[in-house]
Amino acid sequence: MKKKVGVIFGGRSVEHEVSVITALQVMENIDHSKYEVIPIFINKEGKWFTGESLKDIKNFKNKTLSNLKEIIVTPIYKDNKLYIHPESKGLFGKKILESIDIFFPVMHGTYGEDGTLQGLLELLNVPYVGGGVLSSSVGMDKVLMKDVFKAHNLPMVNHMWFFRRRWHESREDILKEVEEKLEYPVFVKPANLGSSVGITKAKNTVELEDAIEIAIRYDRKIIVEQGIDKPREINIAVLGYDDKLKLSLCEEPLGWQEFLSYEDKYIKGDSKSGKGEKRQIPADISKDKIEKIQEIAKSAFMAIDCKGNARIDFLMDNDEKIYINEINTIPGSIAFYLWEPTGILFKDLISELIDIAEKTYAEKTENMYSYDVDLFKRKELANSATKI
Ligand SMILES: Nc1ncnc2c1ncn2[C@@H]1O[C@H](COP(=O)(O)OP(=O)(O)OP(=O)(O)O)[C@@H](O)[C@H]1O
Ligand SMILES: [Mg+2]
Repeated sequence: MKKKVGVIFGGRSVEHEVSVITALQVMENIDHSKYEVIPIFINKEGKWFTGESLKDIKNFKNKTLSNLKEIIVTPIYKDNKLYIHPESKGLFGKKILESIDIFFPVMHGTYGEDGTLQGLLELLNVPYVGGGVLSSSVGMDKVLMKDVFKAHNLPMVNHMWFFRRRWHESREDILKEVEEKLEYPVFVKPANLGSSVGITKAKNTVELEDAIEIAIRYDRKIIVEQGIDKPREINIAVLGYDDKLKLSLCEEPLGWQEFLSYEDKYIKGDSKSGKGEKRQIPADISKDKIEKIQEIAKSAFMAIDCKGNARIDFLMDNDEKIYINEINTIPGSIAFYLWEPTGILFKDLISELIDIAEKTYAEKTENMYSYDVDLFKRKELANSATKI
């Protein structure tokens, strides 16, 4: 009996389109002899839909998505399966129950890679692929992520951050603070985002002001980082859970100018890997650099208690000093191109991610979720202001 995999994609995110592309790759490459795909598309308003036309890129290109059923996901437990069903339309709306064995979030950015969707899936008590609530939310928020990495002594460039509200109240103070703490060039980023959206490199005060004006459109927290001039970028993926981890090959994105922009990643092109970006795999770096990057990548993955498959991005300066830049808990194309050269084909990567999700779900059931001391029987409780 094939397992039904609910592939969730789209969402209220500036990376909505990137998620659709990654999801179509996953739905195409999944092992169809073992799994049946149920596409679950979240539109930009946050409504959920299912339907076969969601499996074909042409329907997104030509805006010809059809026969979509709006659905709601509710915890109807029958023989331990979760069901999705259409928003029932009136008395005779026919309820079509579709059972799902496991969910596969293929979301990037807000409301999907940031712990919110993971929270819903936790409450629904179903197995799901990828990072949990904690690693997803910490991995998404670059300010929190850097605080955790700092606690683990991982090498990072200097940074500072502020609330959008403060910028509106005293922009002069912020500009002064940045110029006191950092040297130009600096990188200005929305704290919670991806795909380089809202990121700008600033070389002077005027550019810094413009950069902040761009970033505050996307988030209430803004991070400003010491920019490394003409760095080399090295990325690596980590697969697993707890401390049972595998490492992919390292890649070096190529062909970018000022920095790796959204256009470099998704519009300009290297058709070989099926993704826009030009890259070198394996990256041409020394063995000891590879080992250093592997070591930091594992520490970063475990530092946020991640599971599944994350891509960890590094920057290397002209003295070949290595800095961890960030972790992406649901990487574009689920970083299949970093695993294939290691012998883990796209199909196998997906199966392994589903196995990890089922294992870690099963492990959760070892927890006790009830503490039976019959507290309510304790009479004096009613009269005492008990600290709960
Ligand atoms: N401190 C820095 N110094 C030099 N270049 C930087 C720095 N920070 C970011 N960049 C450049 O900006 C790009 C995007 O930054 P970053 O990876 O933090 O953003 P992102 O939106 O999370 O991207 P994604 O999730 O798609 O990898 C990097 O790939 C790099 O080219
Ligand atoms: Mg990112």
